[in-house]
Amino acid sequence: MAVQISPSILSADFARLADEAAAVTPAADWLHVDVMDYHFVPNLTLGLPVVESLLRHTSLPVDCHLMIDDPDQWAPSYAEAGAGNVTIHAEAVKAPVRTLREIRKAGARAGLALNPGTAVQPYEDLLGEVDMLLLMTVEPGFGGQKFLDLVMPKLRQARAMVERHGTEVWLQVDGGVSDETIERCADAGADVFVAGSAVYSADDPGRAVQELRAQAEKATAHAAWTKRTSDAR
Ligand code: DX5
Ligand code: ZN
Repeated sequence: MAVQISPSILSADFARLADEAAAVTPAADWLHVDVMDYHFVPNLTLGLPVVESLLRHTSLPVDCHLMIDDPDQWAPSYAEAGAGNVTIHAEAVKAPVRTLREIRKAGARAGLALNPGTAVQPYEDLLGEVDMLLLMTVEPGFGGQKFLDLVMPKLRQARAMVERHGTEVWLQVDGGVSDETIERCADAGADVFVAGSAVYSADDPGRAVQELRAQAEKATAHAAWTKRTSDAR
């Protein structure tokens, strides 16, 4: 899997979302949209009506990260609206198999997110239901937080799990991803990188995406897991 960059519009100007999406087009692979509900996380952002509008105004596929209670009820609508990926949190979902299948059935890729304190191993049996695992590298809720290095062993474990499983499950990292941390993440096994403040606080967000991609590609090319994966083919 090639490196993919998914800029988070949480750090963008919410009154100018279409322009902010355009600022990372076509440099980015996805547009990461953080949906928060004041319940699962202590912050409130936007919901389905705004995602629907955004879908009409961007050519990038939309990567919805649902930090909400009861994703079983709400997640399929984001897929039906046309999001390219819908990620739900393991800590919030009640019937993961059913909900992940509903997301796929509605035509989106299905993502499963884990908070920094949630172990990945219990989810190994679910890998066949998942297109992407999202490992949070901060506690979810806010942009601009410090990257949590304590997630690195779990990232390596997740990469090994995906290798064992032999499927194309993408590994996304989200939180504190910047020019200082992206190489570590790529080396440990991540292949999809969310970056909010690192992209939108830059003078040129499109250029920031290109620079992050170059760093991640370089680290991926030298990573032990990449070599194992290509040897296995
Ligand atoms: C945090 C969100 C992230 C956030 C990342 O809960 O899920 O997507 O925007 O922001 P940075 O890259 O600034 O840590
Ligand atoms: Zn996110």
